[in-house]
Amino acid sequence: MNSPKSKDIYWHEGDISKEDRQRQHGHKSVCIWFTGLSGSGKSTIARKLEEKLFERGVKIYVLDGDNVRHGLNNNLGFSPEDRTENIRRIGEVSKLFVDAGLVVMTAFISPYKEDRNNVRNLLDDGEFIEVFVDATIETCEERDPKGLYKKAKAGEIKEFTGISSPYEIPEKPELVLNTTEETDVSHNAEKVLKFLEENKFLA
Ligand code: ADX
Repeated sequence: MNSPKSKDIYWHEGDISKEDRQRQHGHKSVCIWFTGLSGSGKSTIARKLEEKLFERGVKIYVLDGDNVRHGLNNNLGFSPEDRTENIRRIGEVSKLFVDAGLVVMTAFISPYKEDRNNVRNLLDDGEFIEVFVDATIETCEERDPKGLYKKAKAGEIKEFTGISSPYEIPEKPELVLNTTEETDVSHNAEKVLKFLEENKFLA
């Protein structure tokens, strides 16, 4: 846990534990962390999985990069420092969601290995499921749903991931979804669902 800026801040423990909340919800709480290039399919798969889990009564929420940058993180850009701060804040928010007994899915490029590992370390063992949404840069450029690759290639957007800013591939993700090969969103969401079932998150 990070230390507060002031030394006059004390932790206050409640009587309801994370385990109590999980028991009430009928499932474990966990952070499913989707990482990958812009246009790789992170948000689309997360939303599809959200539907499937919601139908089963799982208490779930999606934190999406573009959406969170409209609010909590609207003071951050795309410099390395800002991306690190973006992921640090989302990591902390995810930890709160997990403590609340919920399943939280995050869809952020999160290009730096160290930032993702810091989130992993923030959570307890088994509470961080890293899902690498692996699509080639060519696939993402072809899809270009927001026209951003076109702009980045024309030099209109600086520090664009995959073009003029790096993406560090996860070394040991819990799951890899290759969306260049498997383009069916539902099938990809099912793979994550299967992982959750096999590892007894939903029991
Ligand atoms: S992260 O790198 O800090 O994790 P985040 O997931 O929050 O990024 O935001 C990425 C989204 O912002 C992209 O999907 C894209 O729509 C948009 N975007 C705008 N400028 C950039 C840029 N320079 N690099 C990457 N994505 C950008």
